Amino acid sequence: MDAAEFRRRGKEMVDYVADYLENIEKRQVYPDVEPGYLRSLIPEEAPLEAESYEDVVKDIERVIMPGVTHWHSPYFYAYFPTAHSFPAMLADMLCGAIGCIGFSWAASPACTELETVMLDWLGKMLKLPEDFLAGTEGSGGGVIQGTASEATLIALLAARSKIVKLIQTDHPDRSETDIISKLVAYSSDQAHSSVERAGLIGGVRMKKIPTDSKFSVRGAALQKVLEEDRAAGLIPFFFCATLGTTPSCAFDCITELGPICNAEKIWMHIDAAYAGSAFICPEFRPLLNGIEFADSFNFNPHKWLLVNFDCSAMWVKKRSDIIGAFKIEPLYLKHDHQESGNQSHWQIPLGRRFRSLKMWFVFRMYGLKGLQAYIRKVTAFNPSFFSPFHLHYMFWTCTSEDSVLVGKYRAYRPYF
Ligand SMILES: Cc1ncc(COP(=O)(O)O)c(C=O)c1O
Repeated sequence: MDAAEFRRRGKEMVDYVADYLENIEKRQVYPDVEPGYLRSLIPEEAPLEAESYEDVVKDIERVIMPGVTHWHSPYFYAYFPTAHSFPAMLADMLCGAIGCIGFSWAASPACTELETVMLDWLGKMLKLPEDFLAGTEGSGGGVIQGTASEATLIALLAARSKIVKLIQTDHPDRSETDIISKLVAYSSDQAHSSVERAGLIGGVRMKKIPTDSKFSVRGAALQKVLEEDRAAGLIPFFFCATLGTTPSCAFDCITELGPICNAEKIWMHIDAAYAGSAFICPEFRPLLNGIEFADSFNFNPHKWLLVNFDCSAMWVKKRSDIIGAFKIEPLYLKHDHQESGNQSHWQIPLGRRFRSLKMWFVFRMYGLKGLQAYIRKVTAFNPSFFSPFHLHYMFWTCTSEDSVLVGKYRAYRPYF
């Protein structure tokens, strides 16, 4: 395919996508196929000789679409919504075209720098404390992770590394293995399974703190477990609070939990994977009060802020805590301006896509007012939004209510 054909095919593909989304309600939302359906529809091996573009495109409707669950259908009521918008799709196309692997500032300066600035923009929309912003001189800042699960894992691993160093400063004779064997991390008994998984991957004990009648972890419950565990010779080092738990949309009481974590030198990470987008509206921002006590915070713009998957925004108060935990710089990656803020030291893979382009397009083309209007439009279908339970209810049913109340779902969908 040369550039001339790409122009032609690209326009056809944009038409296909626009038709798909404009008519998505005509498709059966859940596919009518059995496991293994696809193998019988395509050859056992990759073709030896090149096929034509027409052949490939023909198979989208024959092979792919029959097995697609249409997440953006107005009849999709499962799981939770996943975000998308036309500006984000166009930005993703540009990301593919630039095709950089942004593992250092020099590998693509715009990739590193736009991400830093976009996380500052978004942090300001959420009214995060200054400590979380990179600015030009700040010691905090944000990074785009693939998912909330990755963010929790990174936070836990950084906290593990920090506590080991702290203990070894006073007790240089204590081995890392000995310290890690005593570490204990905590989360709500309502927390997402990814938190427990972070503990498994991080090789540390993970305990669930019982919640109150509103499924919220309270300070007293954490304090009690901490006292028991310290008495048993364990070392508490990490607490993952959730704002908007998966099963019940409960909010842990971070105004009580934060001061305890700070006093006990426990890293507090906040997982607000799906509820977090709402905090850009001043009327929902109080749900984030207590963020000032956290060491790290994460939510997924790809769930509710019009940015396509994958885009999970994570902030830390001290970049050095994360960089200190993961930084290894072999000779072949060394370059001038090495300290210019590249985020590959904040994540597990080395390579990174230019994901901040999606944020840049969406933030500019909607503006904060447009994004707030979008959140409000969704929440408007539920007058009791301020109840966390209703937030959950609203979130899981907005599409159906939309089509019922508005009659025509297009009135609500972001790209109309
Ligand atoms: C509260 C919470 N945390 C974490 C996750 C996992 O999100 P991800 O797929 O981004 O890892 C979810 C998913 O729904 C969630 O609701």
